[in-house]
Amino acid sequence: MKILVTGGLGYIGSHTVVELQNSNIEVVIVDNLSNSKIEVLDKITEITGNKPEYHNFDLSDKESCSKFFNENSNIDGIIHFAAYKAVGESVSKPLTYYRNNLESLMNIMDNMNSNGIHNLVFSSSCTVYGQPDILPVTEKAPRKQAESPYGNTKKMAEDIIQDTIYASDLKGIALRYFNPVGAHPTALIGELPLGVPNNLMPFITQTAAGIREQLSVFGDDYNTTDGTAIRDYIHVVDLAKAHVIAVQRLVKKNNKLNYEVFNLGTGNGLSVLDVIKSFEKITNKKLNYKIVGRREGDIEKVWANTDFANQELGWKAKQGIDDMTASAWKFQLTL
Ligand code: UD1
Repeated sequence: MKILVTGGLGYIGSHTVVELQNSNIEVVIVDNLSNSKIEVLDKITEITGNKPEYHNFDLSDKESCSKFFNENSNIDGIIHFAAYKAVGESVSKPLTYYRNNLESLMNIMDNMNSNGIHNLVFSSSCTVYGQPDILPVTEKAPRKQAESPYGNTKKMAEDIIQDTIYASDLKGIALRYFNPVGAHPTALIGELPLGVPNNLMPFITQTAAGIREQLSVFGDDYNTTDGTAIRDYIHVVDLAKAHVIAVQRLVKKNNKLNYEVFNLGTGNGLSVLDVIKSFEKITNKKLNYKIVGRREGDIEKVWANTDFANQELGWKAKQGIDDMTASAWKFQLTL
C-alpha cells in the first residue's frame, strides 16, 4: 500500500507518517515547508529507519499538482493535512486561507478523479461544531456558523469532499480532531510553532522553558467546574494511529458509506487549569500564569462522544493528559 501524506512534515502529519511506516505502509510526502522544517524528514527516518519519498511543492499550484500526480499515479490513498491553521491569522488574511486551504483540496480531488485514486482521508476539526448544544458532541450534531475563516475552510472542505464524492467514485473520511497535543515518545518530532504560539500546550512548555514570561489563562468566568474553558485534549500519537486505520478502511473497502465522519478525541473534557496542574505535577515545576479576560472567539466547553470511532474504527485514544504534558515537555527540552 502506498499513501500520499500532504503536509507530512507538519505536526500531525509527521506523527502519522511514522505510524504508517510502522505499519509497513509506503509513504510519499508532499510538503512546501510553509510551516514545517526539512529536518523533520531526517527525524522521521531516525525513528523508523526508513526515509520516506519527499516532494516540495505547493498543492494550491495547479500545474505542479497535476505534474506530480501524472508522475505518481500508483498511489492507493491520500491523507490530506496540508493547510494553514492559525485561527487569528485567518481573520486578518481570509483570502489567503480560503485560497490555500480550498484550492489545494480541489486540485487534489481533480487529480484523484483523473488518475484513478479513490481514497481520501481529510484533516477536519471539532471547530465545525462551534459550541455544541449537547455534550459530549456526536458526529450527528449540527455544524454551526464558523468563528473564523480557518474554521470555515474546514467546514467548506467537508462540503466540497462530500459533494465531489456524490458526483464521482471517490470515497472519503473526514476526521474531526479535538485538541491534539503532545509529542512522539522519542522526542524527535513534536509541535514546532513559528513565533509566539497560539495554542495552550506549546505556550505552557515555552513559558516553563523561559522563552515566554507568563502564560495568560483566557477567562475564569465560564460555566465550568473551575471557571476555565474545557477541551478534549488528545495525544498526537493516538490521533496519528487513527489515520492509519482510516486510510486502510478505505483502501480495503471496509467503509460503510462513501463519505464518513469520525470524532477523534478521548471523550474527556479538561479545563485549562487541569492541564496546568498536570504539567506542574509531571515536571515538578511551578508555572508562571495569570488569569486574564476571555479570548475572542473561544467557546466555553467541548468534548467528544467517541463511540462511533471506537466501534467502527476499532480505535480508542489510550494516552491520558499526563502522557501528553510529559511528552510535550520532553520535546520542548530538545529545542
Ligand atoms: C483552536 C481551534 C481549533 C484548532 C486548534 C489548533 C477554534 C474554536 N478552535 O482550538 O479548530 O484545530 O486551535 O490550531 O477555532 N488558552 C489559554 N491561554 C493560551 C492559549 C490557550 O488560556 O495562551 C486556552 C484557550 O482559551 C482554550 C484552551 O486553552 O480554552 C485551548 O486553546 P487552544 O490550544 O488555542 O485550542 P482551541 O482554541 O481549543
